[in-house]
Amino acid sequence: MYNVAIVGATGNVGRKFIEILEERNFPVKELYLFASERSEGKTLKFKGQDILVEATVEKNIKDKKIDFALFSAGGDTSKTFAPIFSKYGATVIDNSSAWRMDPEVPLVVPEVNPEDISWHKGIIANPNCSTIQAMVALKPIHDKYGIKRIVYSTYQAVSGAGVQGIKDLEDGIKGVAPKKFPYPIAGNVIPQIDVFLENGYTKEEIKMIEETKKILHNQDLKITATTVRVPVLNSHSESINLELINDYKIEDIFSLLSNSTGVVVYDNIKEDKYPTPLLFSGKDEVFVGRIRRDFSIDNGLNLWVVADNIRKGAALNAIQIAELIISKK
Ligand code: A2P
Repeated sequence: MYNVAIVGATGNVGRKFIEILEERNFPVKELYLFASERSEGKTLKFKGQDILVEATVEKNIKDKKIDFALFSAGGDTSKTFAPIFSKYGATVIDNSSAWRMDPEVPLVVPEVNPEDISWHKGIIANPNCSTIQAMVALKPIHDKYGIKRIVYSTYQAVSGAGVQGIKDLEDGIKGVAPKKFPYPIAGNVIPQIDVFLENGYTKEEIKMIEETKKILHNQDLKITATTVRVPVLNSHSESINLELINDYKIEDIFSLLSNSTGVVVYDNIKEDKYPTPLLFSGKDEVFVGRIRRDFSIDNGLNLWVVADNIRKGAALNAIQIAELIISKK
């Protein structure tokens, strides 16, 4: 049994951590909940018990003998506190972007690169939500046919922007101005997620590009991305256009993906069957549909990929990393 801490416990992903630990019967000895000082004294339920939320400060961390610390409290909190939890013996699994590109920190999707947990030094990074679902779908194709180029276009739910992201959509429907997004999200589509960089891309787009290369151990991949916020409560959708190195038969792609761990092929156009965020919110798998050849280039392939961004895109993936570590002990 393990002592588990959740940092950012009051947030969207934090609450999902609690729910999934319970649902999967994770071997929790003691659960400790941390958030900002604003939440000190609040309680949250785990297995029917009220657990007190504590402020994330060193004196609250040091004597708890924490084995796993699951972080989802933003990059700054992770930068400051992941090393502190690690110093007191915890393995940190961090959901923010703070550590993902650090060469000393593995970036892991358990179905894709489980081998990378072996070289962690106390911190393991959970990839960006949009990257995770793409990786689960693309890894089998990358292994079998090779990928030359990827074009990502995302349709991302407001839950990915935290508690205030959801509130902006709910308020926006009533005509209230947004606080989180730069424009109203209700009835709108916003081609900006995270901040703009000097090269004209958003940080979210660069995360998808760089994280994909790191997870697939392939720095030669050519990748571009456009990441877009849409007025969907939960679950991200992605159009993924691929140029493969080797040619394929479309039926082989169907069977390859159908037999891949964590993937569900949901694709029958005769019955208008394809994944949508409403259909598959709350599910653990990555759903793939609209599988078809891109006739405009050699070895081109189009996919439509949907997954619950708070589960597989965040909390579930992090807990699967912890389960993987336990299974190797
Ligand atoms: P709090 O509720 O006390 O602000 P979300 O991204 O869903 O909005 O959640 C963010 C999470 O990160 C919340 O649990 C929030 O706690 C937590 N958080 C924000 N700032 C800090 C901080 N400086 N130290 C610890 N936790 C923080």
